Amino acid sequence: MTNTDANTKTATTSTGTTFNLGGDLPVSRIGYGTMRLADGPDAPGGASAPIWTPPADRAAAIALLRGAVELGVNLVDTADAYALGAGEELVADALHPYGDAVAVSTKVGVTRPSPTEWVPLGHPAYLRQQAELSLRRLRTDRIDLLHLHRLDPAYPIADQVGALAQLQQEGKVRHIGLSEVTVEQLEEARRTAPIAVVQNLYNLGARDHEDVVDHTAARGIAFLPFFPVAMGGHTGPGSPVAAVAAELGITPAQAALAWLLHRSPNLVPIPGTGLVTHLAENMKALEVVLSADQFERLDDAA
Ligand SMILES: NC(=O)c1ccc[n+]([C@@H]2O[C@H](COP(=O)([O-])OP(=O)(O)OC[C@H]3O[C@@H](n4cnc5c(N)ncnc54)[C@H](OP(=O)(O)O)[C@@H]3O)[C@@H](O)[C@H]2O)c1
Repeated sequence: MTNTDANTKTATTSTGTTFNLGGDLPVSRIGYGTMRLADGPDAPGGASAPIWTPPADRAAAIALLRGAVELGVNLVDTADAYALGAGEELVADALHPYGDAVAVSTKVGVTRPSPTEWVPLGHPAYLRQQAELSLRRLRTDRIDLLHLHRLDPAYPIADQVGALAQLQQEGKVRHIGLSEVTVEQLEEARRTAPIAVVQNLYNLGARDHEDVVDHTAARGIAFLPFFPVAMGGHTGPGSPVAAVAAELGITPAQAALAWLLHRSPNLVPIPGTGLVTHLAENMKALEVVLSADQFERLDDAA
């Protein structure tokens, strides 16, 4: 890794277990990503998963979401694009009324013309319409965290973020997030509205956004790394972290998540899983303590 030195400096022997999102919404530093609660058993997985229809076993998905909250997850991430809105409906069926038990994060700004396409669309009127539909499907009058799923180069950033800011001013959105942005794009967005969260692809083996991690950390902005266990690539016995994990007496998934938790105090991973046992395992990553040396060896492993 090119930035091992910088990472080592941020490594600590212990890590906080909550992050105060937006300054007023404390969340556990392991959330739950619900994207893969979709499709049937024969659908492809990994990066080509369609995420197009509701889950074949709806009862199991609802039980899993409720199990996540029982295990202490209080940030659940979905999007209007997941199964064409059925992802949000599933979250509502499982967890509504949400009360103070769980914060729901969703996203607008990506259209799904077919099961293989994810196409950004940032027309401000469309973003506001989709947020209204998200409010309806989630059965709430205020979304805790609304992300712009992707920036659309066809519209000025100020107009896209302005649409979300208008929703915030109307009381329909508590906090605004951005997904897959650079430091420059984040700073441009921040000229229009306060940004509480950045959600970018980041894990031990995907390190393109090191600068965004550090930039957001310095400004109290949460960074939700998506694909935190590399879509399962960092979980099995053959994974690059398996050897160090075995030495530490933890699972590879826990090692990959613990590395993220130690990397920076503003990281809030949102691993996905279809198994309550894996949910429990992932939550236990909050208890893992890494020495600077162990952190560095994980850092080098992938
Ligand atoms: N903003 C964006 O553009 C964007 C894009 C993609 C994803 N996301 C968000 O990121 C979330 C996470 O993404 P993801 O689920 O695709 O990737 P991920 O969390 O990196 O990996 C999920 C995979 O890891 C496996 N896994 C999880 N915990 C495990 C454990 N303890 N032991 C063994 N295997 C384990 C799961 O299998 P099992 O089911 O067998 O546990 C699943 O196959 C999504 O749900 C979504 O909320 C956002």
